Amino acid sequence: MAKISSTVFSLRHFLVLSLALNVSLILRIVYEGEEGHDNSCLKNETGNSISRADFDTKTHNILKSRVVMSSTLSSGNSTCKYHTGSRNKVINLDHGDPTVYERFWRQRGDKSTIIISGWQSMSYFSDVSNICWFLETEFAKEVVRLHTLVGNAVTEGRHIVVGTGSSQLFLAALYALSPQHSPQPINVVCASPYYSSYPSMTDYLKSGLYKWGGNADSYEKEGPYIEVVTSPNNPDGHVRRSKVNRSEGLLLHDLAYYWPQYTPISSPADYDLTLFTLSKTTGHAGMRIGWALVKDKEVAKKMTKFIELNTIGVSKDSQLRAAKVLRAVSDSCEEENSQEGESFFKFSHNLMANRWKQLREVVDSSQLFSLPQFSPAFCNFFNQVVEPQPAFVWLKCEGNVEDCEKFLRAHNIITRSGKHFGVSRKYVRISLLDTDENFNQFVDRLSTIQSL
Ligand SMILES: Cc1ncc(COP(=O)(O)O)c(C=O)c1O
Repeated sequence: MAKISSTVFSLRHFLVLSLALNVSLILRIVYEGEEGHDNSCLKNETGNSISRADFDTKTHNILKSRVVMSSTLSSGNSTCKYHTGSRNKVINLDHGDPTVYERFWRQRGDKSTIIISGWQSMSYFSDVSNICWFLETEFAKEVVRLHTLVGNAVTEGRHIVVGTGSSQLFLAALYALSPQHSPQPINVVCASPYYSSYPSMTDYLKSGLYKWGGNADSYEKEGPYIEVVTSPNNPDGHVRRSKVNRSEGLLLHDLAYYWPQYTPISSPADYDLTLFTLSKTTGHAGMRIGWALVKDKEVAKKMTKFIELNTIGVSKDSQLRAAKVLRAVSDSCEEENSQEGESFFKFSHNLMANRWKQLREVVDSSQLFSLPQFSPAFCNFFNQVVEPQPAFVWLKCEGNVEDCEKFLRAHNIITRSGKHFGVSRKYVRISLLDTDENFNQFVDRLSTIQSL
């Protein structure tokens, strides 16, 4: 009797146990199916959340840097922020979408908020006495203030032309610099690796005024040409000067990344035509605001004409919002001196420094990849020697991997191949301006790729 009851008892237990195991298995599958969620969060000694999967020796160093970042930069959110995520999750770092700075702007709250009433910004016109008649005075004032404060561009004796992103200004500049009555389109060149959009933007509309002329390093044709100088360069982050250096050359400087978070500010840029963009300065790509500093009055007039014919000016709402954001950046720099908090550039510089540190640790521990090396230099803005820390990673696949983009895609990491930048497929460009979550997952994923 005792024997029978113990058998029934253990059978019942077995059934309950089996049911519990099945339910927990189903719940786990459902939960992990949601974009890489890992519910096994742990707290480390500083109270920062880290995932259980991160606790292996390979990623220990990366985690250490992350803890530093969390304690210096975190917004105080105590939820589990860092997790390896599912290996099946595709990490797309193809575009340079600058969402990385969102945390700063959230922290600043209303300091960058504007309210525009229904009756405001109605006219096409802003200041008809200005060559660029659609330029908002407030915006122009903040552009000059920020350049003066940062020391990255001469604004005196320059006309400001505002554009719908610096992309529109790039086309306006090509239009303005091209000879208007030449039988042949003028060649537009840039040293490779060059920003992948330049060739397609130049040739998309098959203009009779200008055409893409390829790599400036090997350009040998006689006659006038336009050379685009991107410094620091997208994609490889190096500081650049013009390459062709012939008397008939016209220079267009794209200084989208000449800001203290990316590169040491060595001196104020003093060129004929310089482009800047809010996208990379403050991260507000969606506002679609860029500006050109133009020495020559006739060139400024032609650029203005191009934008007039193209979009009849530039959104006033965006210019007013851009003015407010630029003012918040300048204020944050001035307030920092009076101990009122971290400036935008200090925040963004720390953030980029931390990302580069994590990335170099992972790449250095692998034989598969290599990164460009940069020399530290004195930065007039930070008043100290700093390292360049570009917005993009220009990664090379070493050894037998001939197509780095394809290789990383097989690991569910989407990058942009070197072929789009006029060089070998052994290189890829990877955005470092993405969200913390995507960046962390990228570094984790890269650390797990140890062999072909
Ligand atoms: C070098 C360079 N110039 C211009 C742009 C375009 O900027 P915008 O968003 O102002 O059109 C980019 C964007 O990635 C860039 O990298």
